[in-house]
Amino acid sequence: MPRDDAETFRQAVLRQVQELTADNQRLLQSVVRSEKRFRTLAKSVWHIQEEERRRLARDLHDGIGQTLTALANQLQRISDDARGVGNLGLKNRVDDALDITRGALHDTRELSRLLRPTLLDDLGLDAALAWLARTLSERAELEISFQSELDEERLHPDVETLLFRITQEALTNVIRHSDARAAHIIVKHTPMLLILRVEDDGHGFDAAQVAHAERNASSSGLRGMRDRAELFGGRVEIRSAPGQGTVVQLTLTLDGPETESGTST
Ligand SMILES: Nc1ncnc2c1ncn2[C@@H]1O[C@H](COP(=O)(O)OP(=O)(O)OP(=O)(O)O)[C@@H](O)[C@H]1O
Ligand SMILES: [Mg+2]
Repeated sequence: MPRDDAETFRQAVLRQVQELTADNQRLLQSVVRSEKRFRTLAKSVWHIQEEERRRLARDLHDGIGQTLTALANQLQRISDDARGVGNLGLKNRVDDALDITRGALHDTRELSRLLRPTLLDDLGLDAALAWLARTLSERAELEISFQSELDEERLHPDVETLLFRITQEALTNVIRHSDARAAHIIVKHTPMLLILRVEDDGHGFDAAQVAHAERNASSSGLRGMRDRAELFGGRVEIRSAPGQGTVVQLTLTLDGPETESGTST
């Protein structure tokens, strides 16, 4: 090939490579924009869900909760009156009704808090996780310890909610599936990293098989944990094997406005 033709050919190839590179760049930018839009949308759906839970929790507490409180007070007065007139048969029957009412009141308050604990908004993650450990431990006769390096420091509200929900889901799994005697919640905090670990000494499971089920969407709890963590650039790892207990670990980098302390959107 003559030298001039070779140069023209070289220039043409160079132009094509440059155009391809520019196309790739545009495509990449468009993927990044779509990914950002998707994250924003997914977070909005999540905020709406949490807001709905907050509303339901308030309705339960202020509605049925207040009614049951009034009913308990009324029954207490009838019981006192029955004792006053010496009608012990009636007093005992009313006291039984009072026990049932107080039980229903306790369940209603607990359900309301599990839907969305006001503690989480008012006092933060440490207080909410300590309460969750105590409540589930009493309910399920499981020893649950809680250890945190947060020192009651407040994080971004979304991050506090994320950690609370992942702990809640992990502990629900421990109670439902593991037959464990003890579970531990551990929160580690460095300037750049936040690590949440929920461990149990139960019978464990084949994590690879469950990962396969997750892909086929036949189980939603673990999948949901991973998806939520990814919205914040975090990662959930699950280590388990039959007979060896389970560890669920969330690792989150604390470097952006989405994870630093501030106001919720
Ligand atoms: N701590 C655990 N100990 C033992 N098995 C577990 C534990 N956590 C999860 N598993 C197993 O992994 C499976 C998947 O858990 P996942 O939370 O995704 O779904 P699920 O609890 O069955 O249903 P849900 O969608 O209501 O959460 C469980 O069915 C159970 O077999
Ligand atoms: Mg589950």
